[in-house]
Amino acid sequence: MSIMEYNGGSVIAMVGKECVAIASDLRLGNQSLGISSHFQKIFPMSDRIYLGLPGLATDVTTLKEQFRLRLNMYTIKEEREIEPETFAHLVSSTLYERRFGPYFIEPVMAGLQKTPSGAYKPFIAATDLIGCLNFAKDFVVAGTASTKLFGVAEGLWEPDLEPEDLFETCAQTLLNAVDRDAYSGWGAEVYVVTKDKVIKRTLKGRMD
Ligand SMILES: *[C@@H]1O[C@H](CO)[C@@H](O)[C@H](O)[C@H]1NC(C)=O
Repeated sequence: MSIMEYNGGSVIAMVGKECVAIASDLRLGNQSLGISSHFQKIFPMSDRIYLGLPGLATDVTTLKEQFRLRLNMYTIKEEREIEPETFAHLVSSTLYERRFGPYFIEPVMAGLQKTPSGAYKPFIAATDLIGCLNFAKDFVVAGTASTKLFGVAEGLWEPDLEPEDLFETCAQTLLNAVDRDAYSGWGAEVYVVTKDKVIKRTLKGRMD
């Protein structure tokens, strides 16, 4: 048994046209025994940055508080909001600091990055459990259904999707991938971040 599969759960983030989407399932398990269908794995880090934390449930709870602390420290020191790329490096160094006794989490981030011209550029990234960053131009996946998420996303994703189309692509990718994974599912949550609003939708899923 891998510790990364103890509680189950999966997250995916996708890039669209001047928007990003991030989605997770809602299951919490004790291996194959389902415990909850309301276990949140995506947390807002700012108005424009969302963080998904699939992995060991105790570390989800620990790390979301740890990142809240480190983000507040940054905001107070710098007197400005953090940018997604900077936040990704904060996530990376927080995990690498525990290199020899890691948190069992593989974070996925999605956000809109402010450009010098004032426009917003989509940003997504993911890391492994010791903070090795993976910047992607299309989508990033993590969790127990990651292999299935890769497969479905490769088939459904296309460049420059508008927010509503990106929502549908991201939601269907997640829903169909977790149906092939016993450790993920039991409902889903999808966030679409655009320059002037964030759309959050809770979806029902198969309960078998
Ligand atoms: C998970 O289930 C096993 C029995 O299958 C039990 O022994 C163990 O205490 C449970 N773990 C938790 C954290 O509840």
